[in-house]
Formats: sequence, structure tokens, C-alpha cells
Amino acid sequence: MGLLEGKVALVAGIANKRSIAWGIARAFDREGAELILPYQTERFKENLDKLTSELSRPPMTVLLDVTDDQSLGHLHEEVSARYDALHILVHSVAHAKAEDLSDRFLKTSRDGYHLAQDVSAYSLIALTRALHRELVAAERASIITMTHEGSVRVMPNYNVMGVAKAALEATVRYLAFDLGREGIRVNAISAGPIKTLAASGVKGISSALHSTLERAPIPENITTEDVGNAAVFLASPWAERITGTVLYVDSGSHIIGF
Ligand SMILES: NC(=O)c1ccc[n+]([C@@H]2O[C@H](COP(=O)([O-])OP(=O)(O)OC[C@H]3O[C@@H](n4cnc5c(N)ncnc54)[C@H](O)[C@@H]3O)[C@@H](O)[C@H]2O)c1
Repeated sequence: MGLLEGKVALVAGIANKRSIAWGIARAFDREGAELILPYQTERFKENLDKLTSELSRPPMTVLLDVTDDQSLGHLHEEVSARYDALHILVHSVAHAKAEDLSDRFLKTSRDGYHLAQDVSAYSLIALTRALHRELVAAERASIITMTHEGSVRVMPNYNVMGVAKAALEATVRYLAFDLGREGIRVNAISAGPIKTLAASGVKGISSALHSTLERAPIPENITTEDVGNAAVFLASPWAERITGTVLYVDSGSHIIGF
């Protein structure tokens, strides 16, 4: 029997087979969870339809733009029409303007700052609020978001996304405090570099991958499968007293100080 048997999990953020969210969805499927998989655009829906044939049960799929309250309302309608309870919510969503991930940080525009915060940090609150009733109904729900060490240390070119990730990690703590009495846990996974669509937007991803091989305690790059397995742990009863925390899945890179 899988660790997540009988659980319903929504995993937001699958763009293609390289997406971290896809690694998480596959791990949840392996452990017996029933999946709800939102997609942002019709192009991503095509990718998703090809991928989901690999899953052991057909998932529910639904269009979702996390910056649009109507879209979040539609998501809630669709989910609540089919399920009374949502046991696991994964937020694996981020976006910033390309120029804000390559220019000098000083050049960050007001628009670019707002966009990065809205898509990459506020959306965790928005998504949680949209599905709050079903999360409470699950009695012991687990929310997981994806962050990066650029929130606490300067990573060249990560810029406005580093600031958004700092806000996201603070959001994890405040949500964990707010929702704890309703039995809902909220945690983040801080992943090492993985070549995905979002990561290719950050100038210097190749040197980050190289740096893990050169400097990390475990000189190996991480995979979406590694993140999926960590997410299974955070979503499972084995993590029942863990909330408000950031779990690093980065081959230990974050402990290195030089
Ligand atoms: N790849 C890495 O090296 C790395 C490392 C640490 C953390 N992360 C984080 O992991 C998460 C997933 O990124 P990824 O690397 O798998 O890349 P990805 O491009 O595969 O996933 C990003 C997802 O965000 C979604 N998205 C963007 N704007 C949206 C919107 N308005 N509404 C709904 N969805 C929207 C996209 O559709 C996409 O599915 C992000 O939060 C990213 O910052 C990535």
C-alpha cells in the first residue's frame, strides 16, 4: 500500500515533462494519490495530456491562471463538484520578466517586481484561499511550495525572483501559523538547480549545475524525482508535526560558505 493511498492531491505547475511539478505528480501517483493537475495554457494542456497516460489513474485536469481570481473561482467549482476534501496542495509556480533575471538588479521595474511577487508568492495565498474549505475538510492537509536558496543568499541573476522567494518563505510561515489549528501544515522545498523551462529563464543555470558538482557535499545534481520523494514525505503522516519549515533538497549545497 502506498504512503498516500486514499488522498486527493492537487499539483499546480506542470508545463512539460521536465517540470518539478511533474516529478511530484509521478511520485504521488506511485504512492496511490488521486491527482488534480491544473495547466496554465492550452499548449501546456497538450503536454499534460501526453504525460498523464503514464499515470496509473487518469487525473482531473483544469485550466488555471493563479493571477486571475475568476480562474481560481472556476478551479474551486471544478474541484468541489468532484471532491469534498483536498488532502495535499502543491504550489510549484513562478514567473518573472526575462529582463529582471539578467539585467542589473538595480534596473528592476515596479511592474516586474509586482509581477514576480504576484505569480510567485501571493499566488500561494490565493490558491490556498480558493481551496480552503476542502483543505479544512481533509482534517490533516499538507501544503507544499517550491523555493530556492536565492531567497536567503545572493545568486547572480536570480534578482527579483530571490526577493519573491523570500516573500514566499515568509508566506509559508504565516500561513502555517494561521492554518495550524485547522490541521493544515504548510512547508517549502528548497530545490537545487534543475534544467526546466522556468530555470532556463535565469541566466547562469548551467554554472549553477556545474557548481553543485564542484562544491556540494554530495557532488551530484538533483532530479525532479528527488523533489517528488521529498514531497511525498512532507505530504505523508511521517511529517505530521512538521510545519512552517523549508526542507533543502540540494545535495547539501546550502551549507557551503565559500
Ligand atoms: N528548476 C529549478 O532549478 C528550481 C529550483 C528551485 C525552485 N524552483 C521552483 O520550482 C517551481 C517550478 O518551476 P520549474 O523549475 O519546475 O519550472 P516550470 O517552468 O516547469 O514550472 C513553472 C510553472 O509555473 C506555471 N505558471 C507560471 N505562471 C503561472 C500562472 N500565472 N498561473 C498558473 N501557472 C503559472 C507554469 O505554467 C509552469 O508550469 C517554481 O516555483 C520555481 O521557482 C525551481
